[in-house]
Amino acid sequence: MSRMGRPPLNRRLAEFGTTIFAEMSALATSTGAINLGQGFPDTDGPEEVREAAVRALRDGRGNQYPPGPGVPELRRAVAEHQRRFYGLSYDPDTEVLVTAGATEALAASLLGLVEPGDEVIALEPYYDSYAAGIAMAGGTRVPVTLRPDGERYRLDPDELRAAVTDRTRLILLNTPHNPTGTVLDRDELAMIAELACERDLLVVTDEVYEHLVYDGEHVPLATFADRFPGLRERVLTISSAGKTYNFTGWKVGWVTGAPELVSAVRTAKQYLTFVSAGPFQYAVAEALALPDRYYTELADRLRATRDLLSEGLREAGLTVYRPAGTYFVTADIRPLGESDGFAFCRELPDRCGVVAIPNAVFYDHREEGAHFVRFAFCKRPEVIREAGARLARLANRP
Ligand SMILES: Cc1ncc(COP(=O)(O)O)c(C=O)c1O
Repeated sequence: MSRMGRPPLNRRLAEFGTTIFAEMSALATSTGAINLGQGFPDTDGPEEVREAAVRALRDGRGNQYPPGPGVPELRRAVAEHQRRFYGLSYDPDTEVLVTAGATEALAASLLGLVEPGDEVIALEPYYDSYAAGIAMAGGTRVPVTLRPDGERYRLDPDELRAAVTDRTRLILLNTPHNPTGTVLDRDELAMIAELACERDLLVVTDEVYEHLVYDGEHVPLATFADRFPGLRERVLTISSAGKTYNFTGWKVGWVTGAPELVSAVRTAKQYLTFVSAGPFQYAVAEALALPDRYYTELADRLRATRDLLSEGLREAGLTVYRPAGTYFVTADIRPLGESDGFAFCRELPDRCGVVAIPNAVFYDHREEGAHFVRFAFCKRPEVIREAGARLARLANRP
């Protein structure tokens, strides 16, 4: 307590203590377990991209404050990436903003677009920074739950429609979706596009796993602007270099969208970090231009570790939901006779030497996610194989 009888942490953030990722990563370190909790790759990205960063550092590019919106080379490369992969056209000067990872892009979008009291709809289970970002902006989060349906998780369109009220400001979308691995299909996206236009909503869409898709395809919501007049002025797309190029520590992200939206995000962003990662911005500009082969091989490698880990989990006795994208697989622990994901994850390092994350942390309706557990497969095949062998001990339980 402070001298004024108030706790130091303000009310908006009171529910956000230490993240489960910190707790579980500490557990992995203290027990020597394989950490399939936090989503970071155990190998660095392409050598030529790393070299590009070294070159930029040595040449003195980005060692002083880069321009607020991001270096022109990167803004042009982001615009070109959107054109090359999706046929989307953005002006690098007014419709692209570089941020400190997708995390800052999310926070700045929420801070720039949401008034206190506005409702923000997010697909539950959701990435943990969404709840904190909405809280910092003074918004009220309204979760819409994705539920397992066969091998994948599904969005219930009626539930989404019913969640919209007169106070709804924006829908915070995430596809490919962490932690379920769901990739929203064209029908689901069209429904969201229509709803946004009909109910005068903004949509912030987090597409950081856009290149990590193993079944089907990633379709940005922004591509529906041709079919839904007015949509282009409503959609802000977020992505980052961390997942696509295996450099999660560089924290280079970006936002693309109509000038008024990007300008609102920039206003908030300039008082958060102002700028970041100068030399890395030049390196990411080069990374974005990697040939198609790079992107195909990345997905092929991760598809193989997805299948390896899924098989290991199935053999250990868990029910596995097949992720079409991301580098996470969600499993149901009830076939093991267990129902408490927290207890399961806290015991797993001792039982098997593996760390996972209880999905309940990604839910407001904790009961919906109580028996689900998330494992990351962005690790070398030999690590995933070893994790599978260790998890097999679960099946041999008396
Ligand atoms: C859905 C989602 N959005 C955003 C991020 C954060 O991206 P960045 O590292 O670029 O801030 C993550 C990282 O795990 C994520 O899973």
